[in-house]
Amino acid sequence: MSFGIHCSLVVNSVWENIEFSLDKQIDFKIVMSNCIIDSGIAAAMAGFSAPTSLGFGQVKSPVMYRVDYRDGAWQQGRALPYQNIEIDPAAKVLHYAQEVFEGLKAYKIDNPRANFFRPLDNHDRLNFSARRMCMPEIPADLFMEGISVVTALSEPLIPTQAGQSLYLRPFMIGLTGALGMGPSSEYAFIVIASPSEAYHAGEMKVLIEREGCRAAVGGTGAAKTGGNYAAATESAQRTQAMGYHQSLWLDPRNMKDIEELSGMNVFALIDGELHTPRLTPSFLKGITRDSVIQLARHKGYEVVERTMPIEELLADIKSGSCVEAFACGTAAIVSPISDIAEADGTAYELSQSDVVAAELRRGLLDIQERRTEDPFGWTSEVEDQFYQLALAG
Ligand SMILES: Cc1ncc(COP(=O)(O)O)c(C=O)c1O
Repeated sequence: MSFGIHCSLVVNSVWENIEFSLDKQIDFKIVMSNCIIDSGIAAAMAGFSAPTSLGFGQVKSPVMYRVDYRDGAWQQGRALPYQNIEIDPAAKVLHYAQEVFEGLKAYKIDNPRANFFRPLDNHDRLNFSARRMCMPEIPADLFMEGISVVTALSEPLIPTQAGQSLYLRPFMIGLTGALGMGPSSEYAFIVIASPSEAYHAGEMKVLIEREGCRAAVGGTGAAKTGGNYAAATESAQRTQAMGYHQSLWLDPRNMKDIEELSGMNVFALIDGELHTPRLTPSFLKGITRDSVIQLARHKGYEVVERTMPIEELLADIKSGSCVEAFACGTAAIVSPISDIAEADGTAYELSQSDVVAAELRRGLLDIQERRTEDPFGWTSEVEDQFYQLALAG
């Protein structure tokens, strides 16, 4: 069966020397799924009641997907009621953080069928992260089976207001129970989901992180792995205690050039052009970042990817060359930044808020939520076979 998507394939060479070549058109074939649907799913769905306020990532869909890797091969996938996972207390994930994850959304706004946005890019990034963490790659058909079956089963719970979605969290963990460094030989790939609102609505104040690093030179910054987020938590707490929303991370070698926020990428409007930090091995190659770049160019903006020294940006804000800045990510979509501040309280206020950001957010959401034509081929409906599996189960 042909999976009807022409998607950006991200080709990375070895992780140390990341070559980002985007937009290779591929035709991906998905094989007929033989996922097992657990008989407890109907009861789990029947027992679910959604709260009135969703928030982001707070409400969990009562279903999940799991496929295990052992003896050098991925086994058969299973859709299960949401449940605890039992692991050996010596499992590699618990001691050596052998874990990778992704975040993407299924949308169901004014459409009978849910749709994804660039899911194969998430698949590709998951495998990039897995290679970095010495984990097996997950085949595209299993990745698609996992997110599709969870989405099809969760269909009645997917919120339908603009900006809302089913947030999907695929992740892989190393299970081998043996103390001492070294990769696992057994893994689980799991997909859970959360009916959600947008992660952050409104303006964001960001604090420049001048001391800590979320990722080291030669470290794992470009991989989506839990350790990077663990390393960012102390800064996030400090930042929030001071009344800011996100830490703005600088390059770990010189602490000079802007990289990203703790869960989003950044853009600044400077002299009418959109500038964003050039990708490096120490920060995450956001799929929204790439979408914003392509969409902005499509709308006629000049987009510049370059090394962006923080001092230069602050001077540009002061002089009025930089009037607007925004963050972007799957969870946050596109969110305006109102202030960039130092820990001593010096704040650099952006004079314009949510003008270009709003235009790009609307443009992106119109495509993601399928209100408009998708000239990039980014969206795709959940395959019919997964709805049929869900019905049969
Ligand atoms: C550290 C970090 N940077 C950037 C992003 C944005 O990436 P994406 O647009 O693929 O969600 C995320 C979110 O996943 C993130 O966690």
